[in-house]
Amino acid sequence: MHEFEIKKMIRLAAEAKEKAYAPYSDFRVGACLKTVSGAYYLGCNIENAAFTPTNCAERTAMFKAVSDGERDFEAIAITSDGVNLIAPCGVCRQVLAEFCPADMPVICSDREGNYEVHELRTLIPMAFTDADLKDK
Ligand code: THU
Repeated sequence: MHEFEIKKMIRLAAEAKEKAYAPYSDFRVGACLKTVSGAYYLGCNIENAAFTPTNCAERTAMFKAVSDGERDFEAIAITSDGVNLIAPCGVCRQVLAEFCPADMPVICSDREGNYEVHELRTLIPMAFTDADLKDK
């Protein structure tokens, strides 16, 4: 991916982070999911007093896109309030694996905009997918 596009997606993820609802962890996360058609879907984490219903930023972006009829994705960028690069949690990796190609770039950034790009397949090797359901 071109560096200009990576930085644009990190900036959009940072804008999404501003909308985070994170009164319990005080840890805001933002995601920017790009479709093959060139649309950007933004998501933030949405926490809950009961804790377990909390939705991560990545899944918020993904569910917004899928519920709009999008099925083809090109890249995702994630950023947070943290000093460390943020990578998707295990649940979000599984959700990404449902819809995104194994070679899709996952842009992991920190609050300063430093980043690394990892292929989805390296974050969730041997993902359980629809193909596994067919082979029985
Ligand atoms: N969180 C995300 O939104 N994405 C991640 O990849 C990791 C964690 C959120 C969930 C919760 O609201 C807060 O960060 C602390 O775990």
